[in-house]
Amino acid sequence: MTSPRRSVLDNAVVYQIYPRSFKDSDGDGIGDIRGICEKLDYLEQLGVDVLWLSPIFASPNDDNGYDISDYRAIMKEFGTMADVEELIAQARQRGMRILLDLVVNHTSDEHEWFRQSCSSKDNPYRDYYIWRDPAGYSEDGTPLPPNNWISAFSPSAWEFDETTGQFYLHMFSPKQPDLNWENPEVRREVYDLMRFWLDKGVGGFRMDVINLISKPQELIDAPLAVNDPAVAGGSRESSLAMSVNGPRVHEFLQEMRREVLDDYDTLTVGETPITTVEDGILYAGFERGELDMIFTFEHVSLDFSEQGWGKWSDRRTSLSALTATLEHWQKGLEDRAWNSLYWNNHDQPRAVSRFGNDSPEYRVVSACMLGTVLHMMCGTPYIYQGEEIGMTNVSFPEIDDYDDLETHDAYDTYVRSGIISHEQMMRFIAAKSRDNARTPMQWDESEHAGFTTGTPWLPLNPNYPEINARAAVADPHSVYHHYRRLIALRREYPVIRRGSFHLLEPDSETIFSYARATAEDRLVVVANVSATTVECDYAAASPAALQRRGVEGAGWQLISSNYADDAGSVLRPYEAKVYLGHAPQS
Ligand code: GLC
Repeated sequence: MTSPRRSVLDNAVVYQIYPRSFKDSDGDGIGDIRGICEKLDYLEQLGVDVLWLSPIFASPNDDNGYDISDYRAIMKEFGTMADVEELIAQARQRGMRILLDLVVNHTSDEHEWFRQSCSSKDNPYRDYYIWRDPAGYSEDGTPLPPNNWISAFSPSAWEFDETTGQFYLHMFSPKQPDLNWENPEVRREVYDLMRFWLDKGVGGFRMDVINLISKPQELIDAPLAVNDPAVAGGSRESSLAMSVNGPRVHEFLQEMRREVLDDYDTLTVGETPITTVEDGILYAGFERGELDMIFTFEHVSLDFSEQGWGKWSDRRTSLSALTATLEHWQKGLEDRAWNSLYWNNHDQPRAVSRFGNDSPEYRVVSACMLGTVLHMMCGTPYIYQGEEIGMTNVSFPEIDDYDDLETHDAYDTYVRSGIISHEQMMRFIAAKSRDNARTPMQWDESEHAGFTTGTPWLPLNPNYPEINARAAVADPHSVYHHYRRLIALRREYPVIRRGSFHLLEPDSETIFSYARATAEDRLVVVANVSATTVECDYAAASPAALQRRGVEGAGWQLISSNYADDAGSVLRPYEAKVYLGHAPQS
């Protein structure tokens, strides 16, 4: 169609691996590259053809690898360069593409560039980072930060460096200083390291917070009263809002395409918080020559706190808000740009716990329902490790059982200052902590779920004797086999890849249903997103009932269901069906 890359895109199904938690091959309790190689058969049988690896590079692990100290070295616990080359080769043999995580908004403070940058104001690397003079000094002589921004993982986005008497900017932790993309040398370094990996045969990049790379030149205050801890969550958002989609971001991405990506066969996806559909078209428009797709955050922000505490809340989104958001992106990008489709990743809670129902009775059926409604939309589906077996959120008893720095920072911000009680915050953490996604992958029912023979770096979810890959592969009705069939359907039917999107029940709080259409084909997806049985007159694809909903089609046949039998126009708890039809004969 409009873009030569579009045919690569619409067939792709991506599986995200968080290497630290995927499979440990040497018993040190930390997943590694050889562990990933051991599981390629499992992934191939699932049917995915792109593997996105969260960062595998040398790192002091302040943020588990999202703080890189050497872009050309492999994290010691993960293995060697030879292991990575072997993984790329083995994946290739299976027709799989490896995407690396390109974290270039910031480096680790232990990166050589930053060590040099800190050493003196006239060091050639000084300008690789964003340094500013203090705004002034308090009465006791404490230097005041250049503006009021706060960072995602710490109280201020500025850290004072005693040696040179200036502050550096870090939108994440103080150990993640932001690179200065205004400096052409920085951009050249980034393009070089991208080429280094592409020459080794990687098939593209997931680009970490890539819409933060161009900072506004006047670093003016964020609009909210950011120093008031009562609105700290909102202030984090407003500080972040000041630094996204900056003045030169599109220029930089177009330069990156020209300088690097145009020379290789790549797939690229940008992580872009706080972006609208209009921004999405700028970043991922078919004609624009920037990225292939972006991750929007809108649908994973609907259940945020109503008190201004950002994501820290345990409330659920309403279904109508969720379907409206998904529809907005489906229709907004139609024929203009490409969607990425995801329920969860290494930063988000487990899909079945957040949007489905993780009780023993409904876990499998609701996880299958979520897979169905996601995979039948237009865009590239992303599966986060463990989602395909219906892994659930975890709940650790003590704050010290959690590893994630964001979780600890939030606890400190809200509980130590008395804004949220310990008990309430522990509930919010159980619902939202990033560690929900990071407990080790559950491979089987043996000790430590077959993840490691050593002591796992993060405790396992205790439900692994019931929920594990071995059990899922052995059971034809499992989430795993349902996902495998959904992936196969996408490859088989062009209407899943390319059809237009039409939401059928915009106001419903129980039914999520939509129709897709190409000139020849029709698809209807109808799902009950509740634990009660509901009536739905077109749930058995009655042509007359569908017509009343504005769907013209004929020859309807059921091609996917998460129940063994059919209950006609009744939808049982979390039931999800997909019907394929053809356009009416004229
Ligand atoms: C992205 C990553 C997240 C990381 C942050 C800083 O949001 O997905 O895990 O903490 O960027 O690199």
